[in-house]
Amino acid sequence: MEFETCWWLQSLHASLFLLIFSIIVILLILCVDLLLKPRFYCNCSTCQTYLTLKWSAQFHNLCDWYTHLLQNSPTKTIHIHVLGNTVTANPENVEYMLKTRFDNYPKGKPFSAILGDLLGKGIFNVDGDLWRFQKKLAGLELNRISIRSYAFEVVNFEIEGRLIPLLLSFAGKNKQDSCVLDLQDVFRRFSFDSICRFSFGLDPKCLELSLPISEFDQSFDLASKLSAERAMTATPLGWKIKRFLNIGSEKELKKCIKNINILAQEVIRQRRKKGFSDDKDLLSRFMGTINDDTYLRDIVISFVLAGRDTVASALTSLFWLLANHPEVDAAIRSEADRVIGSNQELKSIEQLHYLQAAVYESMRLYPPVQFDSKFCLEDDVLPDGTLVKKGTRVTYHSYAMGRMEEIWGPDFLEFKPERWLKDGVFFRESNPFKYPVFQAGARVCLGKEMALLELKTVALSLLRRFRIELVSPSNPPRFSPGLTATFSGGLPVLVRARRDPDR
Ligand code: HEM
Repeated sequence: MEFETCWWLQSLHASLFLLIFSIIVILLILCVDLLLKPRFYCNCSTCQTYLTLKWSAQFHNLCDWYTHLLQNSPTKTIHIHVLGNTVTANPENVEYMLKTRFDNYPKGKPFSAILGDLLGKGIFNVDGDLWRFQKKLAGLELNRISIRSYAFEVVNFEIEGRLIPLLLSFAGKNKQDSCVLDLQDVFRRFSFDSICRFSFGLDPKCLELSLPISEFDQSFDLASKLSAERAMTATPLGWKIKRFLNIGSEKELKKCIKNINILAQEVIRQRRKKGFSDDKDLLSRFMGTINDDTYLRDIVISFVLAGRDTVASALTSLFWLLANHPEVDAAIRSEADRVIGSNQELKSIEQLHYLQAAVYESMRLYPPVQFDSKFCLEDDVLPDGTLVKKGTRVTYHSYAMGRMEEIWGPDFLEFKPERWLKDGVFFRESNPFKYPVFQAGARVCLGKEMALLELKTVALSLLRRFRIELVSPSNPPRFSPGLTATFSGGLPVLVRARRDPDR
């Protein structure tokens, strides 16, 4: 009996100790959070409209309201005090933060914390020397011609072997026979398969609808969604407490990351065993330089995250725009017939200037990464005179920048690929800070060329074979909150095979 009481008392003491310890840790996190938070409340009309969600009475999307505020700001910069966030659509400010004073505007700890559990020390999530090392290493590999042909091989395999057969199975001979397909979901599966093979040499076969979705895909999807949801909360306190207590969404996130790690470690182990010198994927290329398997896993997972939803998002809005602009669809097909005929090799795709212009124009209006934030290390003044306090956020808003009359002229709202052409030849906007869709400056996207290749190849292959019609033609896109622009409700379409005579 004495022994039983002792045991009972001991476990009560242990539980009490754990409870008190948890409360102290939570209070400590709360204090640190309060110290770091800019302000909880502000009476100004912008902050009130934000806090009370009044903006939603007039605008479909938060990004449209920000655009409206930025268009009407004389400096093209606004301040959301309750978020401690300076938001800008001013190219001079963007150049200043991404290039001139790059070192004063790192991603910063708050961002790294949000994606840290999923991405570890991967390039997407680190600053300073760790970032510099990976940028150099990845830059060297991605500049090789061999990686471009490997990317093309991967993308073509996915298109010819999976995407087209899938669409054919949905395409009826006439309208009544076609069934509705969520094109956004198809593009997400396509880009996940492609980026996994490119980065890991791994084929999750998500586009094979007959197969059950792999555990890796499910875990990766949920882990990126749950990590993105961390960023949506007004304060990190909630998710940090849940993580500490290992409950709710944080428990789920931990489980998903564990699954991803098991798979990544297995792939790396097998690759080391069989030898990697002949493999063309990024993992095998990095294995020659890096021996630490956890670091390798982190680097490759960053690429998967960076290249998955962005490409799917760009394809979704491109096809939405093309379905609303049949004249652009027709011009893309006619250029291809004229310039390359039926030849669809890597070199021929590069000759299609109108296609490239259409892709750029689509991302001007619908950038996959609508905005991107940095943290200011030391008090600073932006070129337009805006004061930025140490420890606050500065955001460049690519979505709003694509809608600035000062940058694009009075027809800025029109989908007009011709604005990127001079005498039929594609020309890039000479100031990259006016179009930071792939970011610009030192941290410019490393997968830009691969992404452009994917977008153009998919667009050409599908437009030449299928007529794609929107189920609800007139609805402007509504976006779900997240790290990349996603159409809420997907992109329901009807697909019909084009027959040669009525192309
Ligand atoms: C249309 C498709 C894409 C768009 C619009 C896009 C856009 C961006 C943007 C805005 C950033 C900066 C993010 C930040 O610093 O917070 C970025 C970085 C990055 N992207 Fe992309 N991206 C695309 C596709 C890809 C693909 C396919 C890959 C991989 C092959 C990739 C790999 C990366 C990497 C590794 C970084 C980090 C670069 C660094 O921090 O130095 N991206 N991308």
